[in-house]
Amino acid sequence: MSTTLLERLAPGAGETCPPELARRRRGRDGARPARGGAGPHPPGPAAPGTGSHTPVLASELLELLDLNRDPPAQIVIDCTFGDGGHARLVAERLGAGGTLIAIDRDPLAETRAAALAAETACAVRFIRSSYAEALELLAGEGLRADAAYFDLGMSSMQVDTRERGFSYSFQAPLDMRMDPDQALSARVIVAEWDERRIAHALRDYGEERHAGAIAREIVRRRAQDPIETTQELVDIITSAIPVPARFAGGHPAKRSFQALRIAVNDELGQLDRALPVAWELLRDGGVLAGISFHSLEDRRVKRFLADRARGCICPPDLPVCACGREPQAVLLRRRSIVPSDEEVQSNPRASSARLRAARKLTAQVQP
Ligand SMILES: C[S@@+](CC[C@H](N)C(=O)[O-])C[C@H]1O[C@@H](n2cnc3c(N)ncnc32)[C@H](O)[C@@H]1O
Repeated sequence: MSTTLLERLAPGAGETCPPELARRRRGRDGARPARGGAGPHPPGPAAPGTGSHTPVLASELLELLDLNRDPPAQIVIDCTFGDGGHARLVAERLGAGGTLIAIDRDPLAETRAAALAAETACAVRFIRSSYAEALELLAGEGLRADAAYFDLGMSSMQVDTRERGFSYSFQAPLDMRMDPDQALSARVIVAEWDERRIAHALRDYGEERHAGAIAREIVRRRAQDPIETTQELVDIITSAIPVPARFAGGHPAKRSFQALRIAVNDELGQLDRALPVAWELLRDGGVLAGISFHSLEDRRVKRFLADRARGCICPPDLPVCACGREPQAVLLRRRSIVPSDEEVQSNPRASSARLRAARKLTAQVQP
């Protein structure tokens, strides 16, 4: 990595959008995505008192991160800063000696991080990027962190900003991009992907039983007229689902909208790429935690942490261990932590949340 990039990424540099990341966000040729159809929808500032995100499982996360331990100058990476709800609590614990590295690809998060930096005693460094890329850059710098955590999915700020098209409840252009500079949007998927690919996405990311019928209907309708808005898509999805099944599992468009959002933002690919890098960034004794909102994410976090916590993998009939594999981690809870009834009552968006965490063990030195 060049010195210039290191300098730009230096803690205390404030808001950070390294040119390398900006270029990668815009695509290989560095060109901005073309505006067309629904076009990019820069998020307007959230109206005062609206759009703020209630952090989920916050006290449980803080307890697992265990930030009151030595050393006093700790570094924590919030991979999904959002509205900074978790980050604010972490920053309070870190105090003046600590550093919070905040990552998000949404420009609205950048504004929130600047506000937090102005208020908090700890150093705040914001990286506007996908977390997989940002973590790779931090690893390239040789950074070591005491904790890293992911609070996956979208923020309330995103879903409540109607014009960003995340919600099937609001009429809006089809969009769903967390990073408005990115070329791929829900409109592009619906307009350009072939029927098989759309059906796969709906099935794999939304566990939608009627994926084939919905994809067929999308392709049929788009041949007549471009599909531009969330409500046009909701109508198409609803009409493709047999009447008795329409409201059987909640809103008929719920699963398809989840699937499109995951596809647009490559959410699972990002997580698969980021988890090993986040793990490498941890010091011995550091904690990696993940809050997931659906089984596709939770399964990944669970498997990743369980794999790190696994020791010998020899067949059980072998009398002595031949693999020599030592666990790299200890799981901080055997099972996932879920929100209390009180939390779900006060914040229904927390209902599907699951928190998992593991602590990195000191590497065994082989004699
Ligand atoms: C659930 S919200 C986080 C909320 C935050 N913990 C809080 O308390 O305010 C998830 C955030 O992660 C961001 N995000 C999701 N996937 C991302 C990725 N691959 N790279 C960077 N940011 C991502 C979204 O833009 C969103 O702001």
